[in-house]
Parts: sequence; structure tokens; C-alpha cells
Amino acid sequence: MKSTIEIDTNSKTLLNNIKNKNITVGIVGLGYVGLPLACEYASQGVQTIGFEVNQEKVDLLNAGNNYIEDIDDDLVRNLTKTKRLIATADFKEVSNCDALIICVPTPFTENKEPDISFILNATKSISDNMKKGTVVILKSTTFPGTTEKFVMPILIKNESNNSLREIEKDFYLAFSPERIDPGNKKWNTKNTPIAVGGVTPICTKIAAAVINIAVEKVIEVSSPTIAEMEKLLENIFRSVNIALVNELAKLCDRIGVNIWEVIDAAATKPFGFMPFYPGPGIGGHCILIDPYYLEWMAREYDFVTNFITLAAETNEDMPFYVRDMVIKEIAKQPVSYSTAKILILGMAFKKNVSDLRHSPALKVFELLDLEGIKNIDYYDPYIPKVNVNSNTINSISEINSSVIESYDIILITTDHSVFDFDMIAKSSKIVIDTRNSCKNAENRDNIVLLGDGK
Ligand SMILES: NC(=O)c1ccc[n+]([C@@H]2O[C@H](COP(=O)([O-])OP(=O)(O)OC[C@H]3O[C@@H](n4cnc5c(N)ncnc54)[C@H](O)[C@@H]3O)[C@@H](O)[C@H]2O)c1
Repeated sequence: MKSTIEIDTNSKTLLNNIKNKNITVGIVGLGYVGLPLACEYASQGVQTIGFEVNQEKVDLLNAGNNYIEDIDDDLVRNLTKTKRLIATADFKEVSNCDALIICVPTPFTENKEPDISFILNATKSISDNMKKGTVVILKSTTFPGTTEKFVMPILIKNESNNSLREIEKDFYLAFSPERIDPGNKKWNTKNTPIAVGGVTPICTKIAAAVINIAVEKVIEVSSPTIAEMEKLLENIFRSVNIALVNELAKLCDRIGVNIWEVIDAAATKPFGFMPFYPGPGIGGHCILIDPYYLEWMAREYDFVTNFITLAAETNEDMPFYVRDMVIKEIAKQPVSYSTAKILILGMAFKKNVSDLRHSPALKVFELLDLEGIKNIDYYDPYIPKVNVNSNTINSISEINSSVIESYDIILITTDHSVFDFDMIAKSSKIVIDTRNSCKNAENRDNIVLLGDGK
């Protein structure tokens, strides 16, 4: 039986205003998560204010310019022109918002410990400026307990008049993770279901109503901790399964079995199996980082996440493995370290996006450079330049058969759809393919496929 909750008059009025979209929403952090979300609220007719510490992004948006691939340029232009969406670096505007959604980065430190300083800074800026009755929703992926142990105390302390705020009376607080998949044409902010867990049942109801304006299906869970942990489960599920196929790819390399054909065969099972594919490693702002957030938190409880950490390490070893594949191929050619000409295809961490964060392709580039292999170029139409061991390297401007022919080794690290893999396979002396991109090539003699053993 579903229990009913008593809702006070103020909360009821707020809930009505939310349902009538008669609120102002503030999105804190206008990156891959925050900007699409801000656009969705503004598209729903809700007055939306985007808070962003990067002044360049604020200026771009207010001039009507989009900087995130998945969002339509015209949409951003219209929403900012009509001022339905306003970007600002001025946190005083927080006092004009009824709800604030925090979408700031959650990176790790050099020693792979969680860095929640962006969350803490954003929360402090909100706390210093928010009005009574504000709804605060944390969206940044983080370890279980962040909302209640770190965010809530900052919001309780009202430093402007040295008083303490009360939950439900003065503010509402919840955690609601993000599931955006940049580059995914089917699942977007609007149609991807999202969980939400408040610090009280009323907070859950109110936060769910706020999220429901931008997201069609909202799943209410019993606490912020459940919502925080379920997000980590989603990402660690991927990390562990990718690690499994990465390990199998190495075994298949040793025994001469094609892992890609194995996976495709296994994927014909209509139940109980989901295909994951090997590659040069994992990147982006989530799957690589999140296992370490959980591992760090678990230590406080004298718990070691052996299995999860082993998976993360297995994935992080892949760029080193690919470096060794390149070194082996150089050794087979009539070239040496100092003369081998290598072209890396794709720098983004995954296909069809311009996100370079923790890109395994860049890691491979750095490792080869550290090895003393200096004639390395790269091509990525999405990433015009990269920093490799403190040197700025520009992408070559185009590829065609004569460009490809001029290199000793072509290394495919990101399988952007714009690449003509037929042409690449035909024109190369040797292709090291870490994505099975040349699977349809007629002549496979020059293809060295990760997880194939040839
Ligand atoms: N990118 C994804 O695919 C994805 C998917 C799911 C969840 N997430 C999570 O969402 C969060 C945000 O990720 P992202 O990819 O959007 O990051 P991002 O780096 O693209 O965007 C974050 C933005 O926040 C801004 N910022 C930092 N501190 C701020 C502050 N105090 N006030 C206002 N703005 C501030 C940054 O300048 C940046 O523009 C992370 O926790 C991430 O793990 C990301």
C-alpha cells in the first residue's frame, strides 16, 4: 500500500506553482549536463537562469551561440534571444530562483581521490543567496552521502544573518542523477527516465515535480543516498563489463580467437546477455572516475572494493596495451622508433563527440611520445588540437588515400562515423584497429585487430 504524506500549505503552493511551470529554475554549471537541461526547461516555457563560472561560456550563450554538439544551434539562439534562458556568473541572481539544479564537475585528484570542491563551492554560492523555500537538487555524480553529509550542512547555515535554516520550512533538498549520453540520437534529456531521492518524502515529491518539467518519467526513491548509489551502480556496471571484454580481448589476442565475433555470437542470446566491446580504454567524465569515488567512500567503512577496482585497473591498462601493440608493429617494419610515421585516428574519448576528457587515445599518444616515438600525427575533425606531454599538437587538416599511404602505421582509436574505413583499410600499410572499425574490409592482411591474435 502506498503511504500518503502530509503536505503543509507552503509546500502545496510551491508544488502547484511547479506543476503550472510558474517558477524560475536555475541551472548551476552549463556543461554537457547543465546546458541541455537548461534548454529543456526554457523550451518548456520556464524562465531559466544558467549560472556558470566560465565567463567565456556566459558570453557565448548570451550572444546566442551554442557550444554543445547535441543541442540545436537555433534552439539556443531562440531561447537566449527571447531571454527565456539567461546565462550569468552573478550568483546574486540565485535569489530570483525557486529551484536550483547543480550540474558541476566531479573529477578526481591526481591520486584518484574524489574532488567534490566544485559541488561545495556551488552550494556555498547558492546558500549565500537563496530565498526561503528554494528547492536545491544535486545532479553531479558523486559518492553516497554527499547530499546529506556535505551539501545539506552548507544550506542549513545561513551566513547572511547567522541563523540556521530548516529543511522543508526554509528549503528543500534532493539528489537526482544525470543519465545523458552525449552523441546518443535516441535518448535525450527529455525521454530518459531519471531517479530522484529527497532528504524527506516532501523534498522527494517537490524535487520530482521540478525534474518532471524537463523529464517525462521520474522515479521517486526513498533517499538521496539510494539515488547517489544507483548512479554509481549504472556506471560501475559498464566499467566492470567493459573490463571483462578488455581482459577477454587480451586472452583472444594470445590464443588467436576473434573476440568481436565471439561477442556478436553471444549477443544472439535473447535473454541474460548484453554486449560490451573492448577498446583502447575508457574515458569521459564518468565511467573512469566513478569506481574510484565508491572505492574511496568504502574505505571509510573498512571495505575494499576489490572487484570494482580491479575492473577500473583493467580498463586503465588498455592504453598501455595499445602502446605495446604499436611498438610490436614498428618492430616488424623496416623502420625504427625514430623514423616510424604514425597517424592516430580519433582523439575524442568516444565516437562523434568533441569530448577529450580522460581520452584513452590521448593517453596512447602520450605513452608513445614518452617512449621516444616522435613522428606521430593525429586526425580528429572534432578536436583541432591537443596537449601531449606539454606540447600543443594540431590535428592534420584532412585524410585521403595519399595521406594515409604516407604513414607506416595507422592507429584507429576513435571510430567517428565520418571516417571512411574502407578507404583507410585499402590505403594503409598497416592499420592497428582497436575498435573493429575495418570489419568490412575485403583484404585484411594489413589489419592488426585488437582481440584477434593476428
Ligand atoms: N558528461 C556526461 O556525459 C555526464 C553524464 C552523466 C553525469 N555526468 C555528471 O554530471 C556532472 C557534470 O558533468 P559535465 O560533463 O556536464 O561537466 P562539464 O565540465 O561539461 O560542465 C560543468 C560546468 O560547471 C561549471 N562550473 C564549475 N564550478 C562551477 C560553479 N561553482 N558554479 C557554476 N558553474 C560551475 C564549469 O565551468 C563547467 O562549464 C559531473 O558530476 C558528471 O560526472 C556527466
